[in-house]
Amino acid sequence: MHIKLFSIFLFIPFLTSAQTNPVLSAGNINSVKIENQKVSFKTDHTFGEIIIYSPNIIRVRLDKKELQKDFSYAVIAKPQDKKANITQNEESITIITDSLKAIINKQPYSVAFYTLDGKIINQDEKGLQSSWVDEEVTAYKHMQNGERFIGLGEKTGNLDRRGEGYTNWNTDAFGYATNRDPIYSTIPFYMGIHDGLNYGIFLDNTYQTDFNFGASNDRFSSFAAQGGELNYYFIYHTQLKDIITSYTALTGRMKMPPLWSLGYQQNRYSYYPDTEVMRIAQTLREKKIPADGITLDIHYMDKYKLFTWDKERFANPEAMNKKLNEMGFKTTVIVDPGIKVEKDYDAYEDGLKKDVFIKYPDGTNYSGQVWPGWCNFPDFTNEKARAWWREKVKFFANTGVSGIWNDMNEIATWGQKMPSNILFNYDGKLASNKQAHNVYGMQMARSSFEGMVAATNKRPFILTRAGYAGLQRYTAIWTGDNRSEDDHMLLGVRLMSSLGLSGVSFTGMDIGGFTGGPSVGLYAKWIQLGAFNPYFRNHTAVNTKSSEPWTYGEEVTEISRNYISLRYKLLPYLYSTFNTSVTTGLPVVRSLAIDNTFDPKIYDTQFQNEFLFGQAFLVAPFESTKDFGNIYFPKGNWYNLYTGEKQAGNSEKIIRLSLNKMPVYVKESSIVPMQSLIQSTAEQPTDTLIINIFKGNINNSFVYYEDDGESYNYEKGDFYKRKISYDATHKTIVFDQAEGSFKSKFKYLKLMFHGFDSGDNINSGKALQADFASFLTPISKFDPQGSANSIEGYKVKSVVLSNDAKRFEIKY
Ligand code: NOJ
Repeated sequence: MHIKLFSIFLFIPFLTSAQTNPVLSAGNINSVKIENQKVSFKTDHTFGEIIIYSPNIIRVRLDKKELQKDFSYAVIAKPQDKKANITQNEESITIITDSLKAIINKQPYSVAFYTLDGKIINQDEKGLQSSWVDEEVTAYKHMQNGERFIGLGEKTGNLDRRGEGYTNWNTDAFGYATNRDPIYSTIPFYMGIHDGLNYGIFLDNTYQTDFNFGASNDRFSSFAAQGGELNYYFIYHTQLKDIITSYTALTGRMKMPPLWSLGYQQNRYSYYPDTEVMRIAQTLREKKIPADGITLDIHYMDKYKLFTWDKERFANPEAMNKKLNEMGFKTTVIVDPGIKVEKDYDAYEDGLKKDVFIKYPDGTNYSGQVWPGWCNFPDFTNEKARAWWREKVKFFANTGVSGIWNDMNEIATWGQKMPSNILFNYDGKLASNKQAHNVYGMQMARSSFEGMVAATNKRPFILTRAGYAGLQRYTAIWTGDNRSEDDHMLLGVRLMSSLGLSGVSFTGMDIGGFTGGPSVGLYAKWIQLGAFNPYFRNHTAVNTKSSEPWTYGEEVTEISRNYISLRYKLLPYLYSTFNTSVTTGLPVVRSLAIDNTFDPKIYDTQFQNEFLFGQAFLVAPFESTKDFGNIYFPKGNWYNLYTGEKQAGNSEKIIRLSLNKMPVYVKESSIVPMQSLIQSTAEQPTDTLIINIFKGNINNSFVYYEDDGESYNYEKGDFYKRKISYDATHKTIVFDQAEGSFKSKFKYLKLMFHGFDSGDNINSGKALQADFASFLTPISKFDPQGSANSIEGYKVKSVVLSNDAKRFEIKY
């Protein structure tokens, strides 16, 4: 009886016509049109399209109304002309590409993706599929057994996001808690992992989006948008790294950053007046702490008014920047989007005249409060406003500024509640704040980037706080106002590694923490970790203790100097690694999930803060309060960076932690180019490039890359690129012939062999000399007994070769 009553109650909403169902499902497919790489269809309630972008990328579009003209701020790729096989019958439409099969069921509409041998990769949840509640559209996907979820950009929480839900709405999250969501930027791209398979889903929709990876439900994962169409890209590859490469083929990759921006950057909120800036620069040089950047926060401006200098604090910014430049420093300045509403203030009057500000529907400019007081905000989704901003940033370029830091661009206003009815141009498709909000920051960074390139004809350094998918094309990003706390340092690592999984390689966090002040131990740990951040910036809030490396005592000064110096010696490795991001989209901070996707251990929360810095270095950060740390070594063999001690992978090891060392290990068969110590990238290293080779049982290769470090001539072939391969099977190290027209700044190569022992021919001298003789002339003879050289504590033998030699091999 009870059961009966219950079931009647349950089904009533679907049975009576008097009640309307608030959930609108797509319903059945009624008509289908197949043309080339596209399937267009109509269902009971929707219009749909499935477009094949490549054998690995399939796009799904669905809307309650006819699909609008295609437009995206994120996607720059066009569908490739690669024929897929598309067939249909009464029940379904089948798409077969070279790498996957998609089946679109007709009654009701639902989509499923399979491997070519029939394994389910991803499928709509039966009974739910895709539907609307009011204007919110959601795609429900069946939760696969043991499925994990990673990525989604700058999101707090664990590496494996299973069991959590997330919202994308760019938010000024001052001093955020380590579980706060959302924070500053939106990248609606994640990867699912189950049963030895992995796939990516990118929901390209700039409205607020919501992801559910099994939060409060054990049935589905889902992604939803509060407006606009359901528009997502499904990406499948057998290897996770290729999914990132495909995702960045869609949304674009970074350009080479200026070399100087990979050096150490000293920030604070705020350095002023100019004499203080010079004191900081001078002290860095005196204390032999290498550095390339000084950043000016809001106090350089006249009452926080954009495109001004405070005349008293900075009487002659050109002269200051020139002096800094001569000392090997580049200046970055902060910019905020808010233009002070003030009569006779140039930027405001000019903005009014050119009509660049965002507006209410009645045509009046929107005013919100931020640093300078009431402000108007340029509409960066309007080409007219972007052009205006491009002109405006010349102001900085003309005073010798090299970097633009785009802050507060969520948009942040005091109170944080920008009205929904503010209108944006959205590149000709008028949009409300609901649709444009998440893309505003990225378009601001884009405008700064384009303006600086036009003004200087050089690579600028561009940094942003807010962003949307594809931001990597224009800018680096940092993780905003973190706290000087241990778990924030570790969260910062996860934010960077998640951003890396989501196409963004140039990432950083405030070293030392923004709010509050770190303990001596935490500062030491954080600056060591900073040496392994793609963007290495030390920053702290106003009214906090100074955060320069010398403010935490002699020992920490020494530690900071050691690790910053190591960073500078590693620049050839790091710069080459950035080039890999440019060509493949793979990040500099690499989550262990990239190479060890199906190893459950790496998702264990005690190991989830480990990451690879490029291909070679395993970095294991721990809380500063810990005396011991448990490290998980993924498959393969590893070398302790400091002792050379070998460590077999697939194992855990408890190690003793110390103040002055960060646990770092090198993967077997790694190839790590290094240079002599310099104090800034304006200084030339010696003419010898040191190539460290770590003995291993696996094959590996590294693409060494160099260019002028400042122009875009590399895009026209003016680079020096050389693939170096470690062939463990044939016990050979191969240097391919160099490519490109750039002349390397190094004249000689010095090879440093690590982990080779007396049983290896590498120590026999004879074999080596014979091989060298046939390919090149060594400038000094290899001495089999060799004087022991030392690099970061290693005992190694070295061989010096001339760098312009064509392809050569070394056998051992
Ligand atoms: C907020 C930024 O997140 C922070 O880094 C900066 O110092 C302040 N704004 C002041 O400009």
